[in-house]
Amino acid sequence: MTITTCIFDAYGTLFDVTAAARQAAAEPAFADIAQDWPVLAEYWRQKQLQYTWLRAVTGAHDDFWTVTQQGLDWALEKTGHQGNAALRARLLALYWELEAFGEVPQMLQRLKAGGLNTAILSNGSRAMLDGAVKSAGIAGHLDDVLSVDAVGIFKPSALVYEMVGQRFGCAPGQVLFVSSNGWDAAAATGFGFETAWVNRGQDPVDRLPWIPAHVLGDLTGIPALAGV
Ligand code: LAC
Repeated sequence: MTITTCIFDAYGTLFDVTAAARQAAAEPAFADIAQDWPVLAEYWRQKQLQYTWLRAVTGAHDDFWTVTQQGLDWALEKTGHQGNAALRARLLALYWELEAFGEVPQMLQRLKAGGLNTAILSNGSRAMLDGAVKSAGIAGHLDDVLSVDAVGIFKPSALVYEMVGQRFGCAPGQVLFVSSNGWDAAAATGFGFETAWVNRGQDPVDRLPWIPAHVLGDLTGIPALAGV
């Protein structure tokens, strides 16, 4: 089936989630995370994601911003930085202006020039996503930003993936769904999307009932996969 619509996960896929801790660690005020910022960033991300899954299966939905703060609080405590209110505030502020990966603007531009629909589909709250899209300067290359806010449950609920067809009037097979989260790309395959897993860290494939159709090292190959 011809691809008409390219849909992107946001955090870790278009936006570099490790950038907040990396950037704070380079600031003199936060020299105490100069060594362990990669561990802090990893714990933060892992807990943030675990909390989304647990909230989805128990029906205890809350805003992604709340979950992001709760994940950070666990990570700060685990790494011995729980009393550092200034660090907490700085990391959270940086999350609203994460760097986009370098290839993102040109890749999106090529998709738009090829006549494809482009959008984000993310767990992020609409306000968080708007902040990141604005600071990355990519709003002009996106037709829409779809947040799970609209359905009140996190990925990988099918209710989230269904938002794409509702917005663009396309069949699942006409969608190329791109995520750096192996579990997200896998679940989207199960939903019926064509999928690409952006595996920057060369991680093993997730052992789930579905596997991503394509695996790429970064986003530069996406236009070719989408046929433009
Ligand atoms: C998102 C998370 C899963 O943007 O990365 O939805």
